[in-house]
Amino acid sequence: MNRTPLAEVAAVPPQGAGALTVAVDGVEVGLYRVGERIVAWRNVCPHGAAPVCRGTVDGTRLTSAVYEYEYGRDQEILQCPWHGWEFDLLSGEHLAEGSAARLRRHPIAVIDGVVYDDAPVPARMRLRVTERVRAADDIVVLRLASPDGAALPAWMPGTHLEVSLPSGLVRHYSLCGDPADRSSYRIAVLRERSGRGGSAELFAESKAGLELDVRALRNRFRLREAKHSLLIAGGIGITPLLPMAASLHRRRRSFELVYTGRDLASMALADEAAALPNARLVESSLQGRPDLRALLAEAPEGTAVYACGPAGMIAQVRALAAAEGDRIQVFTEAFEGGEPEPSGHGPARPLAVELARSGATVRVEAGETVLHAVRNLVPSAPSSCEQGWCGTCETRVLDGEPDHRDRVLTEGERESGDTMMICVSRARSERLVLDL
Ligand code: FES
Repeated sequence: MNRTPLAEVAAVPPQGAGALTVAVDGVEVGLYRVGERIVAWRNVCPHGAAPVCRGTVDGTRLTSAVYEYEYGRDQEILQCPWHGWEFDLLSGEHLAEGSAARLRRHPIAVIDGVVYDDAPVPARMRLRVTERVRAADDIVVLRLASPDGAALPAWMPGTHLEVSLPSGLVRHYSLCGDPADRSSYRIAVLRERSGRGGSAELFAESKAGLELDVRALRNRFRLREAKHSLLIAGGIGITPLLPMAASLHRRRRSFELVYTGRDLASMALADEAAALPNARLVESSLQGRPDLRALLAEAPEGTAVYACGPAGMIAQVRALAAAEGDRIQVFTEAFEGGEPEPSGHGPARPLAVELARSGATVRVEAGETVLHAVRNLVPSAPSSCEQGWCGTCETRVLDGEPDHRDRVLTEGERESGDTMMICVSRARSERLVLDL
């Protein structure tokens, strides 16, 4: 679940219309649609000299970017424009008889409409703070880069960085820079005076030259294809929404960004947000809070609503969206330290959890979490916030009915019951079977 997202499946051109080229670790990878499948080839021919191009054989005539001539097969190919070598689009094999040459496949996984990089990624990276800018009263913006200047893994708007602080605390930050810039990541850190201390530490201790351990990138808050997108940011919640808005603007998609904060002095990245078309900045001390009810009610049918901000704002957006039914879809991300999601399912009961990979069963007492009980047998079970908002502990459910108490999953994901956050969620059934 720590894979890096590369692209929406919807962004891959239709079959026969070429590739979507993405950069992975400094190498170009072409994503092609073949029927229902997406295939990924490194965009370089086997002798390493030229990017491959796509051709089609229509009957006996081959047309590619460089050649058009009579041919004897009926299939789609990739072609090296230098040598003219032709490769099967699905298998990557060189079509010349007896040749062992083949294109290099790049491993991908297609999950829930997104193409993910499935190559093993380093579990940790050590990045250096190269820039620290005071972006608002209590917010600093940090730029992080590899000490050796290496290109950083690709990311999509909504991606989190998990940062291990010098004190050992672990905190998550949304990337808020330009996904096309692989030389550095940008995060914004809010000094939370009533928080658990991690962000206050990073706010105070960070300076150019500080090196930090950064763990795998996560994205639980990705952009979906929709007729219209409504982005609602409260305070530091602008961080994931700014690259989303920039991406929608770049792709000429219909969107509106509403960014609210106490006043401009407290609103980080306000100038970048204001520079986008269809962006509205609301200073609540002067104008009052935006009317969320009206915003959602007036959103055109088919709108995808993304809200990121304080827990109270998120709860309000979710409640108002429920009244809108299927007319709009809502995706939210709350901050660390918000109130736990009310379960609405009564007090916790003991339950039995079967770990499918070993067949062992653990009993979860009423007063302990599933994560805690599971760790007796699987000490490596991942977690971070342990409050149900970061998504690190997301685990596949193979049987049983989860009682979701997190603030990560959408309503649709909750209803499907495919996964659960085992740090806070429990079960409505007596027993759960988890993919652990
Ligand atoms: S550890 Fe963060 S949601 Fe479970």
